[in-house]
Amino acid sequence: MAEPTSPSIELLDLHPPAGDLRADVLAGLAGDLPGAASDAPARRIPPKWFYDERGSALFDAICDLDEYYPTRTELAITRDCGGEMSMHIGPRALLVEYGSGSSIKTRVLLAHLRDPAGYVPIDISRDHLRASAARLAAEFPGLEVLPVCADYTRPLDLPSPSRIPGRTVIYFPGSTIGNFVPADAVDFLRVAHDEAGPAGQLLIGVDLVKDPAVLVPAYDDPRGVTAAFNKNLLTRINREVGADFDPDAFAHRASWWQDPAVEGRGRVEIELVSRLEQTATVDGHAFTFAEGESILTEYSYKYSTTAFAQLAAQAGWSVVRVWTDPNRLFSVQLLDRSEAR
Ligand code: AVI
Repeated sequence: MAEPTSPSIELLDLHPPAGDLRADVLAGLAGDLPGAASDAPARRIPPKWFYDERGSALFDAICDLDEYYPTRTELAITRDCGGEMSMHIGPRALLVEYGSGSSIKTRVLLAHLRDPAGYVPIDISRDHLRASAARLAAEFPGLEVLPVCADYTRPLDLPSPSRIPGRTVIYFPGSTIGNFVPADAVDFLRVAHDEAGPAGQLLIGVDLVKDPAVLVPAYDDPRGVTAAFNKNLLTRINREVGADFDPDAFAHRASWWQDPAVEGRGRVEIELVSRLEQTATVDGHAFTFAEGESILTEYSYKYSTTAFAQLAAQAGWSVVRVWTDPNRLFSVQLLDRSEAR
């Protein structure tokens, strides 16, 4: 099962199912995709399909935008507070990252950790994982790197490093937790809770609620990079499923929605809005859109520290420490298992 990626590291391939874009698009446009928020528009396409080659390049460009504060703010917090994070985590941690681990944040954190027992990046994209794990292993020569190709939202058995770890720390930066609806976020946090084991911790990036005048431009930038990212989904569907969407016949929309049921919780809703009445054909199936009708492509939830603590508690996590930037735009939070305290 394990195969060489470089002379020194092996990739554990759990063969995650690739997913089915065609099935998700047909069900999503028919309004039959399960798991939506109860107040979601009828038509939606899951955001995981944003990331083909062009979508990933556009996302990298988003991360560099002045308006998109999360990436640079989380990096600054990690730089400024990495020493304290390391102190709370303790020596010989096994760092398990949900995602590719190709970012600077991971390197900054690893450089702060005291004698880490190993680093386990988990990602569904085999080639990306192999390349980023090999690069990281080359930069941290003494570190045991154990990449796992898997869907990190599903339970899995973590590989064991050669040295017994002080504890397992699940690292989930990037505020990707915000792209889950709250019920799914709790399910996901439960999976992480089980995986971390009894002394385990979770170090997670959580974007904070703030003025919509800051939030909305972060998802609707004047240069139109986020609009291009959103519309690229239609271009991808045209190419990979055999559809005839005109991306320019849809407008990009980002809007703020405050959850009336939970104080300190809301979401940026990202949609593609039909500019006119039109019909698009997807692999032989016709879908008619009224003028102004939207396809929901992403939610990006934001939490107050209190609202996030309540959400995490539902999955058995307690907040140990929250680090934020001076403007309280973003947070990096360390959690441990409630019963272990
Ligand atoms: C990946 N995720 C955390 C981003 C976010 O901020 O929700 C995705 C994104 N979509 C548009 N801009 C960024």
